[in-house]
Amino acid sequence: MQPFPSDQIQLPRNMIENSMFEEEPDVVDLAKEPCLHPLEPDEVEYEPRSSRLLVRGLGEHEMDDDEEDYESSAKLLGMSFMNRSSSLRNNMSVYRQSSNGSCSLPSTRTMVVCTVILVIAVALIMVIYLLPKCTFTKEGCHKRNHTIELIYPLATNGKLFPWAKIRLPSDVVPLHYDLVLQPNLTTLKFSGSVKIVVNIIHVTWKIVLHSSGLNITKATITSAGGHQEKLAEFLEYPLHDQIAVMAPEALLVGQNYTVNLAYSSKLSDTYYGFYKISYKDENLKQRWFAATQFEPVAARSAFPCFDEPAFKATFLIKIKRDEKLSTMSNMPKKATTPVTNGIVQDEFFVSLKMSTYLVAFVVADLKNISRETNESLVSVYAIPQHLNQVEYALNTSVKLLEFYQNYFLINYPLEKLDLVAIPDLQSGAMENWGLITFRESALLFDSHTSSARDKKSVTAVIAHELAHQWFGNLVTMEWWNDLWLNEGFATFMEYFAMEEIFPELHSDEDFLNLIFKAMMKDSLNSSHPVSSAVQSSEQIEEMFDALSYIKITNGTLDVKKLMKTWIVQKGFPLVTVVRKGKIISVKQEKYLYLVEPENWTSDASYLWHIPLTYITSSCNFTHCTNAYLLDQKSAIIELPEEVEWIKFNVDMNGYYIVHYGEDWKTLIDLLKKKHTALSPKDRANLINNIFNLAGLGKESLEKAFELIDYLNKESSTAPLTQALFQLSLIYNLLEKKGEQQLASRLMHRIERLLGDKIDQQSWTDDGALSQRELRSMLLAFACTHDIRNCRTTATEMFEKWVNSNGTISLPSDVMKAVFTAGAKSSDGWDFLLKMYSSSVSEAEKSKMIEALASTDDVRKLIWLMQNSLEGEVIRTQELSHIIATVSQSLPGYLLAWDFVKENWEKLTQKFHLGSYTIQNIISWSTSQFATKAHLMEVKSFFESKSEQSSQLHSVKEAIETIQFNIQWMERNLAMLQELL
Ligand code: BES
Ligand code: ZN
Repeated sequence: MQPFPSDQIQLPRNMIENSMFEEEPDVVDLAKEPCLHPLEPDEVEYEPRSSRLLVRGLGEHEMDDDEEDYESSAKLLGMSFMNRSSSLRNNMSVYRQSSNGSCSLPSTRTMVVCTVILVIAVALIMVIYLLPKCTFTKEGCHKRNHTIELIYPLATNGKLFPWAKIRLPSDVVPLHYDLVLQPNLTTLKFSGSVKIVVNIIHVTWKIVLHSSGLNITKATITSAGGHQEKLAEFLEYPLHDQIAVMAPEALLVGQNYTVNLAYSSKLSDTYYGFYKISYKDENLKQRWFAATQFEPVAARSAFPCFDEPAFKATFLIKIKRDEKLSTMSNMPKKATTPVTNGIVQDEFFVSLKMSTYLVAFVVADLKNISRETNESLVSVYAIPQHLNQVEYALNTSVKLLEFYQNYFLINYPLEKLDLVAIPDLQSGAMENWGLITFRESALLFDSHTSSARDKKSVTAVIAHELAHQWFGNLVTMEWWNDLWLNEGFATFMEYFAMEEIFPELHSDEDFLNLIFKAMMKDSLNSSHPVSSAVQSSEQIEEMFDALSYIKITNGTLDVKKLMKTWIVQKGFPLVTVVRKGKIISVKQEKYLYLVEPENWTSDASYLWHIPLTYITSSCNFTHCTNAYLLDQKSAIIELPEEVEWIKFNVDMNGYYIVHYGEDWKTLIDLLKKKHTALSPKDRANLINNIFNLAGLGKESLEKAFELIDYLNKESSTAPLTQALFQLSLIYNLLEKKGEQQLASRLMHRIERLLGDKIDQQSWTDDGALSQRELRSMLLAFACTHDIRNCRTTATEMFEKWVNSNGTISLPSDVMKAVFTAGAKSSDGWDFLLKMYSSSVSEAEKSKMIEALASTDDVRKLIWLMQNSLEGEVIRTQELSHIIATVSQSLPGYLLAWDFVKENWEKLTQKFHLGSYTIQNIISWSTSQFATKAHLMEVKSFFESKSEQSSQLHSVKEAIETIQFNIQWMERNLAMLQELL
């Protein structure tokens, strides 16, 4: 491996680097802060600056100079970008204002910089809103009141536990772990021993570390010389998942000691920790698979450890296994030695310094294909019957790995990278260093059954997790409140890399949809700032140093100031534009669905620094994009000449909604006359904005419908997708509100607009990727709503498929439409379920499951949800998707909610309260409610549950969404009666 010079990279102050290239261990500057951790338990989500683990060498030079931070963080992300656009580096003038306050002619640099800032900002903001908000705290989002226990914490044996805080003390830091594990895939238990070399920062008698659900049988401490291993008393405090190993004598500053712990436990039956998975092999024999998922706080349930991201250490892992199985871990295998009859031990090379949440191992019977690139061996693993579906992932991973290495100018530091398809995984994928785990549907690609959409999502997930090998693994956020540093940048790089290497996939369209989705969440009162726990401006600055590469520029744009306004404030702005001749007045206010009187004053004080972009009729190509920084409540832009029309937020590169007032009419006319004067993204943006404004009551629904009247001329995927999305939202609400007649009138309107487009679709996989995606969407919509004879064609295809006993191959892009139509009949449904059980393609199975969940037969729907919860016939990982589909349909939406209520305890046990899955389940199962009775029902259900449940952020969001739905209906129902 090629080491990088030790002075090459410095990091934002709130990120820690892997110090593998240092001679000395990381200096942890915690000693300066005697009161390291906040006392209040409810503050544990956020760690103030004082507890920062500092980067290498900090003891010698405190990084209190902003400039240092800029340069350091820029190295990893920005500089490599800047290196490639040297024109950006020199003489960068970002917003060149003319004397009248408007921008002078657009400069490419201006736009590049604006776009980069905005895209990164949007990526970050969006990721935060789409990420689970409570996942990264052990307790979820509730506030607990354990004051008494915290002052006098009692260990399980009744003795005083010597540590009261949730964060570990700073006086002992781990340097190295020797971990030996012996999982037994017959008894489904495991035993283990761990030797942790620790360094003493402050003299102490105790070593406090994490352990959860482990039966610890023995603890010893050995001093540096290693000669005197002494038995040590240990205390357990399960409330904080902590144990304290009590030293027989004082542990001296600067010395190393080895803590040795022996323990046993059960393989978990949740999706966290070291967990078991049952699956059927090619002979339909039940087999077991064991894998890990440690992020964020589950490493402690596999081995006692210092389970906080800043406590990086090296790991030497040994796993004893049945000689017929194989094991994998973060590092390559070093040796395999016999242990007893039929049992061998695999030993892996010592890892780089890494956080515990990135440790991983897998014990299973897997097969792989591999390829060498830049001194690293990339392999994709799957169970044997899936080996024929791993080639696309291997090709894609190699391309992406090479791209990232060149882009970051930092080699991937391990000698191998394994990507493993896990038969049951709660999340889509997990970036464990050197051993990335994926849901099978997120990694496997089968040319017969994977659609254009599937190809895109497999590529995106790989791009995301590979980006984490740098962002997250090599440099890591110090504490979970800065999770956005990991996920935000991985998401940004995911889209960036995809556009660079796979332009044919048009991932920018997905990015657009991601922004629309984030805005929906962010417009609720229950939304929160990107970093809600951060309070002082200093801390905010720290975070945004990662973007500071722009600041080397000598332009006038103050990026730090700009970013602050987006990060400390929740929500986003609504920009209202009024045009009078050459004069454009712009004003900003907070965009909110529901204006609550008590928030009126604070909402009014919101102010963003918005880099506005606009195009006009006089020049509407990308190179003509103008920019204006709106950093006041209102401003005037004077155009050089009068124009016919003006369109803001070019290609939706900004995170704001625009209200054109009277000028909507002009834009509506423009779309009617010459819609191609605007880009497809701009058209999608207008559709999105006007429907949002209609929901808010700021614009009439009539105008919104008028705007989409041009759609029969539309052929681009982005605006069609957006229109269909907005119309489906309305249709779904009307249907559930019992307004069937109105709903069917709306469907006629949709047919009038999109009918021809639907009829033009072929039932094949032909065409460019974007067209193929559009076809999938239109036909699935048509078959779901039984319009345009979709079901006739689809049913014919389904019957042919049934008659061939599932052997003929269906075009992958229309497969979902075909299955949806087929599943409408009872026989078709039964056949589909049979084929589901025997299919070896995850891509095919996920289309089947969606079709099965779209039946109108309520007994079948209940059966599906129950069976998915049990996990035998249908994997539990599918449950949230099943609930999502069931809760959209008229026969299913009440069933889904009942199911969630009845099984709440089981659901939260399996998926953990606050997890992304639980958030999705809450959101989907309540999303269709639009009555006061339902509002009360949802409120009282969660109030009847634990405080943890009722305080969940997603519960507040769900309640607000129902309130919004009620308000939407009150505002627009009469208008719809008139309009349709
Ligand atoms: N680190 C996450 C996985 C994760 C999420 C672990 C939540 C623990 C809690 C991973 O990098 C990720 O973001 N996975 C995404 C897929 C990705 C393409 C956005 C997922 O699982 O949905
Ligand atoms: Zn991620």
